[in-house]
Amino acid sequence: MGHALHDRVAVITGGASGIGRATAVRFAEEGADVVIGDVQPGDETLRLVEKAGRRALYVRTDTTLEADCDALVAAAVAEFGRVDVGVASAGVSSAASDADRVARLESDAGHVTTLSTAAFQRVMDINVTGVMMTSRALARQMLAQGTAGSIITIASTAAKIPIAGAAPYCVSKAGVWMLTKVMALELATTGIRVNSVGPGFTTTPMWDVAEDSPSHQWAMSITPMHRNGTPEEQAAACLFLASDESSFVTGQILHPAGGQFTD
Ligand SMILES: NC(=O)c1ccc[n+]([C@@H]2O[C@H](COP(=O)([O-])OP(=O)(O)OC[C@H]3O[C@@H](n4cnc5c(N)ncnc54)[C@H](O)[C@@H]3O)[C@@H](O)[C@H]2O)c1
Repeated sequence: MGHALHDRVAVITGGASGIGRATAVRFAEEGADVVIGDVQPGDETLRLVEKAGRRALYVRTDTTLEADCDALVAAAVAEFGRVDVGVASAGVSSAASDADRVARLESDAGHVTTLSTAAFQRVMDINVTGVMMTSRALARQMLAQGTAGSIITIASTAAKIPIAGAAPYCVSKAGVWMLTKVMALELATTGIRVNSVGPGFTTTPMWDVAEDSPSHQWAMSITPMHRNGTPEEQAAACLFLASDESSFVTGQILHPAGGQFTD
């Protein structure tokens, strides 16, 4: 398609599905080789990246494990020689299955008063600590290379809006957004930029709600465009932040969210 990431090497966690997969494919179309880290098999993403004419590597990665995050980046370097771009897209909406989560959002069963500590902690482990360990491994490698780089975290509009029934998710995404800003400041003089994409409601396995469900109707009531986004629209935002087109942008969050934030 284009050359915005010609011969760059990108590492993408959560790359087996949804926004991570669409980002892997878009990056490949723009000339990048792509390394996918996920707990799920990445075969379909690998197939799509290779179809786009670029090289792809899948590394089974549980981002809650420090050794896995470090090994993912090490594998990218072993295969492709360096890392230029990282996207931390691995995440969960709750410790429950997605179907249970949607059911909980439609009742009050997910409120903090009925929330277990373990369920809260699990979301923090994946969405906050996992993103920190992924971003840290990427930044360490980029510093060792002495090259410029772009690290992109995937937060959410939930970083800024409280959603009843979704305390772990909202708290975790606010944490991701703050982590991003702190890392951006710490690395500002190194050439490594750190930014966040904060998606609104986007059609993926994580947000697979029926059109007539209360969840979808509520989502549309706070989305001025009255539609879900696509993973490809989120990937386009990642591409901007990954490419040199955003060379003076760091510590920012970009919200492809159908107009959710207009102030
Ligand atoms: N879909 C939306 O509406 C929406 C909105 C805002 C933010 N987001 C965020 O976008 C990111 C991607 O979500 P998505 O919508 O593509 O969902 P998804 O479920 O399609 O993809 C998430 C991926 O992360 C992987 N993953 C989960 N835990 C992991 C772990 N511990 N280690 C490695 N991989 C792990 C899953 O296996 C999956 O492949 C998430 O951080 C999510 O919170 C999504």
